[in-house]
Amino acid sequence: MKGSLWLEAEGPSFPRLDGDVTADVAVLGGGIAGVTAAWQLHQAGARVVLIDANRIGHGVTGHTTAKVSSQHGFKYAELRDQHGPEAAAAYGGANEAALEWIADHAGEHSDFRRRTSYAYVTEGRERAVDEARAAASAGLPATFVEDVPLPYEVAGAVRFDDQAEFHPLKYLYGLVRELPEVYEHTHAVQVGEAVRTPGGNLRAEHTIVATHFPFPDRSLAFARAHPQRSYAIVCRIAGEPPDGMFLSADSPTRSVRAVGDRLLVGGEGHRTVTGGDTEERYAALEAFAREHWDGQAVEHRWSSQDNVTVDGLPLVGPMTPFEEHVFVATGFAKWGMTGGTAAGLLLADFVLGRENPYADLFDPNRLNLRVAGPKLVRDNAVTGARFVADRVRHPGRRPIEDLAPGEGDIVRLDGEKVAGYRDEDGTLHAVTPVCTHLGCQVNFNRAERSWDCPCHGSRFTVDGEVLQGPAVHRLELKPT
Ligand code: FES
Repeated sequence: MKGSLWLEAEGPSFPRLDGDVTADVAVLGGGIAGVTAAWQLHQAGARVVLIDANRIGHGVTGHTTAKVSSQHGFKYAELRDQHGPEAAAAYGGANEAALEWIADHAGEHSDFRRRTSYAYVTEGRERAVDEARAAASAGLPATFVEDVPLPYEVAGAVRFDDQAEFHPLKYLYGLVRELPEVYEHTHAVQVGEAVRTPGGNLRAEHTIVATHFPFPDRSLAFARAHPQRSYAIVCRIAGEPPDGMFLSADSPTRSVRAVGDRLLVGGEGHRTVTGGDTEERYAALEAFAREHWDGQAVEHRWSSQDNVTVDGLPLVGPMTPFEEHVFVATGFAKWGMTGGTAAGLLLADFVLGRENPYADLFDPNRLNLRVAGPKLVRDNAVTGARFVADRVRHPGRRPIEDLAPGEGDIVRLDGEKVAGYRDEDGTLHAVTPVCTHLGCQVNFNRAERSWDCPCHGSRFTVDGEVLQGPAVHRLELKPT
């Protein structure tokens, strides 16, 4: 079984940073937000250095369903009700502008094509009517429809015209090839007067932190956003894939689009703090494809995590009110293709001292306690409960030798609790089970063979390397 389809694209590779460099702008994170900001700043004449802890585009951007759309489920009624109609219109405007920016820069190489997007419900037609009204009032190309080109009944849907889909990595590689100074496998360990990396320091007047969860997190984003994990499969089907892009706005969430003559199905989203078995999540998507499209062999599957903020709006701008030269971008709630692009453009404007109409809406230092307060308390209570519960539920009493090939668990090694894994060859791997971010206990992800932290979404390899932050430091390897 192959992983993300998008990561199969041939892309450029870049060296590790080795030595000290200076720049006008340091950009941390080679996903769509960081690359867009870097490209825009480079075009404006700034000397930009972009670093990525892993490979360009191999994080959240490489694990998306790659819909380029301002239709983010039933978002506009929610924004209208929580933040008012102006905020809904501004959010829509930012995402439509990002869509058009992508269209202008997609070129021939990125499989960009216009598609109609539908968000539907299978019951509760009135919700769709209300969402269509809210989205149209916010200036989006939205209409309520009852006919949707899907092989099952829906109660109603909101149709957005002139949306798009693309190949996110081919797109990103097109932009990044135009950047003069890019380093991969270069992770920042400190952002202060300089950005410190193991291979050298990066001195810059401005620093953009576009690392999914901000590192460092002086904005305390981890307390105002929680990671959600979702899953995707690509399979062959008996007939033609449906004509358009589709998303269910009721439960269970299903996201559907074509990739050539194959079908991409996404969904099964959940908070990382309320995990469950990853294999079962994939099986549910496969069963859905089989039921409605005679889905056959699954060729690719992958999962991803993205951050959802308590007030439903991304956090993009100065990291704190006291740091005018360090910027963050996070909280795209799985809509990072347009959300990340809008963020990149906004951060470039911040650095260049230009006005941007969306700066206030996405301000990371906003305080809207009426909207966010109760949810903030609830979200952090759930995370706090998990901090304790995992230690009780998984005390790690089994000896590591008990692990079967392919199995990972919290176990004992020489009397010490460890996160243990036995690979298919029988070799044992053991690391400390405590996440290096804020100390939650990690869980084994059976489908991806990784150690995942339920609290704020850090992920580690079975040998403890950081796959995804906010953790910066690896889990300590234990000799087996
Ligand atoms: Fe925050 Fe692990 S990601 S404690």
